[in-house]
Amino acid sequence: MKLVVVSYSHTGNNNALAEKIADRLDARHVRITESKKRSIGRIALDMLFNRAPRTELSGELFTDVNEVPIFVAPVWMGKAASPLRRTFSQVRGKIGDYSFVSISGGADGPNTDLEADLVARLGKSPATVVDLHIANLLPPEPAPARKDTMHYRLSQTEIDELAERAVESLRPGT
Ligand SMILES: Cc1cc2nc3c(=O)[nH]c(=O)nc-3n(C[C@H](O)[C@H](O)[C@H](O)COP(=O)(O)O)c2cc1C
Repeated sequence: MKLVVVSYSHTGNNNALAEKIADRLDARHVRITESKKRSIGRIALDMLFNRAPRTELSGELFTDVNEVPIFVAPVWMGKAASPLRRTFSQVRGKIGDYSFVSISGGADGPNTDLEADLVARLGKSPATVVDLHIANLLPPEPAPARKDTMHYRLSQTEIDELAERAVESLRPGT
């Protein structure tokens, strides 16, 4: 099976994770980018107004009709980050299986609406969703708050460990 890792990252965590996953799975890696660095305010407005911002791709999305995408991106306000939306529209109805992996904050617990958002945008259920949380990397007391997780940058050791966990979860169905 041919795999393509398609990632977006605002502050670097998910791109670093995606790079390692692509390396481990011997997959191509395509990045979704934006011409301008976005502000926190624009993140919130996009999510509130359901916008699909303009984005670019670092390479060809698919080089083979059977390529299986693994999307890697942050969760914002319970949903997949808005810069994925144009790519989701582009591939909707054209992909077989797909998976979604995220290293998100997790200060408010699991992102329970994430899968429904993916189904709504891609028209089908993901084979696997891996929702990894920064909150689980922090000391449990005092309980991690959003401000603690939001500015957290993963170390290389954490990236390697999280990528390994994602690869383990992806293996059965990918
Ligand atoms: C505006 C905003 C909203 C967020 N909403 C969520 C959320 O709903 N659930 C969650 O687990 N993390 C949430 N986060 C935390 C990010 O998912 C987390 O910081 C992630 O590691 C950022 O990934 P990146 O470095 O690839 O951009 C939010 C972050 C921001 C800036």
